[in-house]
Amino acid sequence: MFFFFWAVTFLTFYCASSQQPSGRAGHAETQMLSQMRESNIVLKEIRDLLKKQIKEITFLKNAVMECDACGINPGATGPGITMTVFQRSCTPNPCFPGVSCIDTTTGFLCGACPLGFTGNGTHCADINECSVNPCFHQVDCINTTPGFRCNACPPGYTGPVIKGVGLTYAKANKQICTDVNECENMSSACVANSVCINTQGSYRCGPCKPGYVGDQTSGCRRERTCSNGQSNPCHERANCIIERDGTAACICAVGWAGNGFLCGRDTDIDGFPDERLRCSDINCRKDNCVTVPNSGQEDADRDGVGDACDDDSDGDGILNSEDNCVFVRNVEQKNADKDNFGDVCDNCRNIKNDDQRDTDLDGKGDLCDDDIDGDRIKNILDNCRLISNPDQRDSDGDGVGDVCDSCPDIRNPDQADSDHDLVGDPCDTNKDRDGDGHQDSRDNCPTVINSAQLDTDRDGLGDECDDDDDNDGIPDYSPPGPDNCRLVPNPGQEDSNGNGIGNACEGDFDKDLVIDRIDVCPENAQVTLTDFRAFQTVVLDPEGDAQIDPHWIVLNQGMEIVQTMNSDPGLAVGYTAFNGVDFEGTFHVNTATDDDYAGFIFGYQDSSSFYVVMWKQTEQTYWQANPFRAVAEPGIQLKAVKSTTGPGEYLRNSLWHTGDTSNQVKLLWKDPRNVGWKDKTSYRWFLQHRPQVGYIRARFFEGAEVVADTGVILDTTMRGGRLGVFCFSQENIIWSNLRYRCNDTIPDDYDSYVIQQSQLRA
Ligand SMILES: *[C@@H]1O[C@H](CO)[C@@H](O)[C@H](O)[C@H]1NC(C)=O
Ligand SMILES: *[C@@H]1O[C@H](CO)[C@@H](O)[C@H](O)[C@H]1NC(C)=O
Ligand SMILES: *[C@@H]1O[C@H](CO)[C@@H](O)[C@H](O)[C@H]1NC(C)=O
Repeated sequence: MFFFFWAVTFLTFYCASSQQPSGRAGHAETQMLSQMRESNIVLKEIRDLLKKQIKEITFLKNAVMECDACGINPGATGPGITMTVFQRSCTPNPCFPGVSCIDTTTGFLCGACPLGFTGNGTHCADINECSVNPCFHQVDCINTTPGFRCNACPPGYTGPVIKGVGLTYAKANKQICTDVNECENMSSACVANSVCINTQGSYRCGPCKPGYVGDQTSGCRRERTCSNGQSNPCHERANCIIERDGTAACICAVGWAGNGFLCGRDTDIDGFPDERLRCSDINCRKDNCVTVPNSGQEDADRDGVGDACDDDSDGDGILNSEDNCVFVRNVEQKNADKDNFGDVCDNCRNIKNDDQRDTDLDGKGDLCDDDIDGDRIKNILDNCRLISNPDQRDSDGDGVGDVCDSCPDIRNPDQADSDHDLVGDPCDTNKDRDGDGHQDSRDNCPTVINSAQLDTDRDGLGDECDDDDDNDGIPDYSPPGPDNCRLVPNPGQEDSNGNGIGNACEGDFDKDLVIDRIDVCPENAQVTLTDFRAFQTVVLDPEGDAQIDPHWIVLNQGMEIVQTMNSDPGLAVGYTAFNGVDFEGTFHVNTATDDDYAGFIFGYQDSSSFYVVMWKQTEQTYWQANPFRAVAEPGIQLKAVKSTTGPGEYLRNSLWHTGDTSNQVKLLWKDPRNVGWKDKTSYRWFLQHRPQVGYIRARFFEGAEVVADTGVILDTTMRGGRLGVFCFSQENIIWSNLRYRCNDTIPDDYDSYVIQQSQLRA
């Protein structure tokens, strides 16, 4: 009876435990199938055992009856006698308890040992299931007879208490303990308004959140003063920042929008609040499309619903998806040249031009404009058709004007530029001692890192290596300087208010007519506002016919980019090169279709040399297994691309792959959470790059919360370069509310990181 009881208990337990939710949703189905297969096997084993058991009982009954008949009472028999009398038959049972016994002509035969035991049937030994490590690491495994048991998950983890019998069961039912996110439950974790960092099995409390002061012991309270000592006038969701001139300004925190004195929730992080605020600044207006980022608030039919979420943007009664002029009313849909643009919105009505490119923005598409760049020299005579050059200078006489000649001093009529660095092949040495992306022969400071190549006084010496940037005779820093207007000639150094800043550059340090307060690069007259309207497209797999090339649309005066196609890997790269830079933007995939890569790039020097931050939604093996098998994981990745082959299948698969690939890509960091982006969700990134010291740090927000942080990363593969966005096989990506700022200030955490690293090495 022992065996029956045991089998029923086991069955009950087995069925109960197989209903436990499987750990990973993706494997649920396969796991269920294999569990079903296993339970079938187990059931069959049990059925066999039961059959044997019935036989055994019959034997036992017969044996007992025989014993009664011949007058032998087995209970009263001495051990020695039992051995001699019965050793070759099933009475008394010579087998291990619970094992069936069959009498044969030559003696007896024992059945198989019970589940959880091993042996020959007469002798069965307990199997140690703990030998296959069924328990979560750090959890004790207790081997019972029969079976095993795992203790509860360790503190900071949650998961089932596992017990069972047999190696098969132990292997198939390993204990899974998942980390408890203590930070989700702030009441029990860190003090209010402080940073909580979830770790495996535990959590850490960080400093107070921005805008709060204090610590974990005294608590975090609203900061009531700005760092310049003045009282803080900002909204509780805004940060107080100190401008160049020492005055305080209020900026709403990520996930909030407004004028800084008032901030409201901004679900799609495009800079416009979900609800109207009681202030008159433009950023106090209600977002006309609350859930899709549209930092330009474009609204063609002025119906109050932004184009980004209006399925009939021009209100002509024809849905955008069917309308050949999405933003201009045209009920009749006339279209003389049968391209994708109806006559009323076609910049070349009689010539098919689906790209609608119009270089000089004169309203006439390039394909039907006889002076594309608007320099009043007709295309057929113009030696730079795409860049205005009324002087037509052509130093090397190759028919290509200097301003558009990728080698102005070497004849190269074909202008080939295989590495997309804007330097033509015949004059491209790629010898770049300081690594700033400008080859020595063209670098205005060959040995000083200056990707921006700023040369304010145009004397051929870059500002970074010029002692007198504005050539006014007053040295920048040394006596009789320092120059109180380093970038504006003022030999007299007039400074009527005596604040150390010369009159000539007061409030506008680089005299580019954009005041410092709104100038993204106050010390660079060439760069004033974030603008990606002019950009270079780089196709990273030009030969591949796997997919089509990306299609980029630029909105909001160049501060928003949309990519609409499910495409091969590609980049849209702005033309401005930077030294130190802060680069931020909102990232949003506006479709539930597809699960692929999108991201941004920085430090772009050529199509083989750039940094990319890329994010995929789900794990996937690339469908082209040549030249090697590439597997993408979902977590955010930061990669340094330094490719020996340049664009093509090697670079394509290396970009896809999550990991290092020799001579192509180095994975500098990967988000340990390993989670993909969510459909129709806005994320904000904030990148700091200081190529002078190789400092890189990027943070990622979902709503107002930081969800990932690379921490300090040091890498000097690219010493500065251009910025842009990246896509690979993903359509409907929006990069909104883009902002870059020149910034050469080395962040505070750099020093402590370097010290810590050197201590680790010591
Ligand atoms: C069964 O195994 C035990 C222990 O290993 C051994 O002593 C015994 O002789 C074996 N019996 C048979 C029938 O093989
Ligand atoms: C949060 O912590 C409290 C106190 O420890 C607990 O009672 C509550 O169940 C927790 N809530 C969640 C969602 O974990
Ligand atoms: C420049 O970078 C430093 C260090 O990261 C930072 O503290 C400062 O706010 C940045 N300046 C601007 C204008 O963003």
